[in-house]
Amino acid sequence: MVSDMSSAGSVWPLEAIRRQFSGLTRVQNGVPVAIFDGPAGSQVPECVVDAVSQYLRRTNCNRGAAFATARESDRLLTEAHECVADFLGADDPDCVIFGPNMTSLTLQLSRALGRTWKPGDEIIVTRLDHDANVTPWVLAARDAGVVVHQVDLHPDDWTLDCEDYARKLSDKTRLVALGMASNATGTINPVQKMVRMAHDAGALTFVDAVHYAPHGRIQVNELQCDFLACSAYKFFGPHEGILWGRRELLESIRPYKLRPSPEVLPGLWMTGTQSHEAIAGTAAAVEYLASLSALLPGGAGTTEATRSEKLDFVFAALRGYERSLTEVMLTGLQTVPGIRIHGIQAPDRLDERVPTFSWTFADCTPRQAAEFLAEEGVYVWNGNHYALPFTETAGLEPGGTIRAGALHYNSVEEIHRLVRGLRKMRGSDF
Ligand SMILES: Cc1ncc(COP(=O)(O)O)c(C=O)c1O
Repeated sequence: MVSDMSSAGSVWPLEAIRRQFSGLTRVQNGVPVAIFDGPAGSQVPECVVDAVSQYLRRTNCNRGAAFATARESDRLLTEAHECVADFLGADDPDCVIFGPNMTSLTLQLSRALGRTWKPGDEIIVTRLDHDANVTPWVLAARDAGVVVHQVDLHPDDWTLDCEDYARKLSDKTRLVALGMASNATGTINPVQKMVRMAHDAGALTFVDAVHYAPHGRIQVNELQCDFLACSAYKFFGPHEGILWGRRELLESIRPYKLRPSPEVLPGLWMTGTQSHEAIAGTAAAVEYLASLSALLPGGAGTTEATRSEKLDFVFAALRGYERSLTEVMLTGLQTVPGIRIHGIQAPDRLDERVPTFSWTFADCTPRQAAEFLAEEGVYVWNGNHYALPFTETAGLEPGGTIRAGALHYNSVEEIHRLVRGLRKMRGSDF
């Protein structure tokens, strides 16, 4: 097995991983493409594709019927809640809510939670968040006559200003909406500390873990947050949204719902007929991640380890590998003439970020750069990435940034190709 050494000293089974992703075999002008658009949506392993198609082929059925396919489908869906509960480090599978995407679930929650607010109350959002964790709360606040505060950023590295956060928290704060990692700058926010501060002030917390989910272990019980959302298409699954909440909150806050739909969790919050095939694929994505333990030296795959233990093990190794990708990408990007990288660059602070990088050039638009790289077979994103509060604050509108994000299936060689492409574009020797 050809492997890639991570600086953490562990061996990462890169080839065995890449073999499972058909999307990584795409060739352009005779050269394999290097895919860095994971922050917009990851590639999907074959086991996930199979789970989706097998569901449609064999088990396709609506809920609750008396016949065999419905019973099989219902069982599979119940297991998917258990599987995702393990992924989130949650004890109660009924507190895992599926829905079309994170945005829709957040809008649904914000509308329901907003009905418990009154004029004079306050909420806090941040300038580093994706708009899906800002506008739903702002709209609900506007409807309820509630004041919205935004946490400012440090202009040197665009990290959250926690002193500003502390100043804006008060006993009037009803909700704090936080992102676990920024999909624009790659910064991992100090969520656990910020949740504690919110709770000390008596506020509820909602955590957007969409960008963090493919990069690190989520443990809602450790975070102690009240709600957390993510999206399976960012962690190697199909397009499916996930909302987790504490049982007493999901049971006491009344969602907008139809009369005949369930009055109990999880169905209470799952509006309409779900994409059962996407839920099946989401469970398969979690199983895929757990299965990587068998590929890792000293892996938990050969023991009686539980799915949760395997996920612990895999994400610890994955973080080590991604840290080496972060280092290679940062040092490579820093050699590109005229580049302005937006986010943490201090070598001793790389644990505070994932390998997602945003940058700009003074004399070339993000679109032009992305088009140049696309011709070179290097796929990166350009624009505001819906992280509009950040691009506005950083003065990067219109146009936004060029963004490349590496995932556990990317190689060091692909990062070298990205850097070579950029240096070529800048007319530098490459
Ligand atoms: C950090 C972050 N939050 C929220 C979202 C919205 O997720 P969804 O597309 O599932 O609505 C995205 C999507 O890019 C994201 O990157």
